[in-house]
Amino acid sequence: MNLRSLSTAPRVGLALVRADLNVPLEQGQIRDDTRIRASLPTIEALRSRGSAVVVMSHLGRPKGKIEDGLSLGPVAQRLSELLKLDVRFAQGLPTSASAQAEVKRLQPGDVLLLDNLRFDPRETKDDPGLAAELARFGEIFVQDAFGAVHRAHASTHAITGILPSYAGLLVEREVQALDLLMNGTEQPFVLILGGAKIADKIGVIEHLAQQAQDVLIGGALGNTFLEARGVPIGRSLAESGELDVARGLMRRFQGRFHLPIDVVTTRAITEPGRAVNVEEVGSDEMIVDIGPATQAAYRDIVLGARRVFWNGPLGLYERAAFAEGTLAVANAVAECPGYTVVGGGDSAAALAASGLSDRVGHVSTGGGASLEFLEGRVLPGIEGLLES
Ligand code: 3PG
Repeated sequence: MNLRSLSTAPRVGLALVRADLNVPLEQGQIRDDTRIRASLPTIEALRSRGSAVVVMSHLGRPKGKIEDGLSLGPVAQRLSELLKLDVRFAQGLPTSASAQAEVKRLQPGDVLLLDNLRFDPRETKDDPGLAAELARFGEIFVQDAFGAVHRAHASTHAITGILPSYAGLLVEREVQALDLLMNGTEQPFVLILGGAKIADKIGVIEHLAQQAQDVLIGGALGNTFLEARGVPIGRSLAESGELDVARGLMRRFQGRFHLPIDVVTTRAITEPGRAVNVEEVGSDEMIVDIGPATQAAYRDIVLGARRVFWNGPLGLYERAAFAEGTLAVANAVAECPGYTVVGGGDSAAALAASGLSDRVGHVSTGGGASLEFLEGRVLPGIEGLLES
């Protein structure tokens, strides 16, 4: 995929950058600043070209009105620390009169962060009016919000029809990595899919299972597939309305799906778990992780792979007692000698917790975005960056 690269952009006084600074916050504290760090190279590149930089992002899902707990203030502070620069911050609506005044005051090399784009109800409606107001904040638009390129919003999509638009360094790196994975020919190609929702994974399975030799399933997604196969899953989290979809996928890609052969179950997530054969889940139990035999089987398949894509935890990863399966998969992916790509917050966190992030080919900053990209579609936030 050929994107209009930032290196071909004219040097301008004012550049408008869409970043994905949607970071996890706990009582106003940033729990993980990976996405902020990932946005730095593009901001630095523009500053070194003499531009003042206006950065914009969403945070969480406010319903089109200002919510104090979802202000980007803490992000502006962290950005200042990381850039070693006093990043200006325009609190409130992103195109308010005070934001406009802040933009007018900018000098070359300055950085201004606008507040949460989703405080404005027009953002998620891909509204051209909001896009036009934002477009006054830059001579060029730089798309660096890989995590949000699957959203057709005013700041990711409509704006690309107004300003000359370029791919930021992060978007360029993400697209190259996913292209390499998707268009590679090395076999075996292995997909590891966990997490909860089958709807998020159908597109990827349909597009990639054709060429993937093995599809390893776990997490609540695994429970749905087990139930679809007729295995009793007790009180496990599953999407019982999607059993036909799961059956249809297993029929179409027969022989490629691997489901857990043993699992960890518990009666309550505050109680310890027990590993049992998958046929032995009690009617009052829930499946909360893949068991040791499944971990070993999945590990063998991953170690023999030449290409791997992993999205989603294989169990209730947020509880240390049920994180073993996800951590085992993280280790196997890190040890795999092939080209490995990991997408999604929990999978990336499992790698980071084990100090393995730099042992995989690429860790994507976009969970939903990487999945939708791998469905083989041109995403709305990328469409306007393609070389004609
Ligand atoms: C993400 O966290 O996946 C991105 O920032 C997109 O956020 P959204 O799902 O709220 O659009």
